[in-house]
Amino acid sequence: MLYQISIFHYNTSILLKNTVYLQIILNFQSFLKMSSEKINPYKEKSNAKTEQVAEMFDNISGKYDFLNHFFSLGIDKIWRRKVRNIVKVIPHHQILDVATGTGDLAIALSKLEGSNIIGVDIANKMLDVGRIKVLKQKLEDKVDLRNGDSLNLPFEDNKFDVVTVAFGVRNFENIGKGLNEISRVLNRNGKVIVLEFSNPSKFPIKQLFNFYSRRLMPFIGKLVSKDSRAYSYLPESVQAFPTEDKFAKIIEDNGFTNATFKNVSFGIAAIHVATKS
Ligand SMILES: C[S@@+](CC[C@H](N)C(=O)[O-])C[C@H]1O[C@@H](n2cnc3c(N)ncnc32)[C@H](O)[C@@H]1O
Repeated sequence: MLYQISIFHYNTSILLKNTVYLQIILNFQSFLKMSSEKINPYKEKSNAKTEQVAEMFDNISGKYDFLNHFFSLGIDKIWRRKVRNIVKVIPHHQILDVATGTGDLAIALSKLEGSNIIGVDIANKMLDVGRIKVLKQKLEDKVDLRNGDSLNLPFEDNKFDVVTVAFGVRNFENIGKGLNEISRVLNRNGKVIVLEFSNPSKFPIKQLFNFYSRRLMPFIGKLVSKDSRAYSYLPESVQAFPTEDKFAKIIEDNGFTNATFKNVSFGIAAIHVATKS
């Protein structure tokens, strides 16, 4: 009897020890893989991520378009065209482009017949750059760029046929809240299309992308934009963003169904599509 009790105590203490070890390992793993929601542009500041993101994009607004096309060698235009081709074959009368920035995707979508696009962003200076492009291209009847936070969209329920987000979700302070807001403003069977950077996993694209995004981009980005953090924040937030399959699951957990994705340019970016549930 005494023997059985001591064996029981021995097993319980081993189990407890293992549970503690497992907890330490899990905490360490989550420390290593911080969620992109926790990656802030200005680490030394204590204000909310949304405010810091708006400040950073306002700071670089004058150089954003140039650096965007320069760093991507113009491939970003091809990615936006791919998004437009997806939108083309679904009902698309009322489109909302969330985190529209300087409006490149909104402008690309305006080429679709019968489309009306509203673009929202929290960075006013990015919107100002976009409004000049809209005026120059005489698109003011089709494209309306407004200030608006993706986490609290200034629209009634069920308003839009399609919501697009290009390179914006990674910057959200609360991704789940942003996705639920997008679902709320979509009408029945409405679609969300998210274009976002990924972390390519195959040799040699992974190594090339890492060198390019973590070394070259911060160096040139700092030189040109004069914001010392903006182009270091970019690779950090990309690295912390969930993998494509995990993000598809997050989309389905936050107001959507049938989430699918397609990698583009060797997995440097991915296009996610889902239907409002
Ligand atoms: C990398 S830029 C992308 C701009 C544009 N979609 C494009 O493809 O070039 C990210 C944009 O997301 C905006 N953004 C980030 N968080 C936001 C939020 N919570 N609500 C609205 N816009 C947001 C930023 O201000 C910035 O203009």
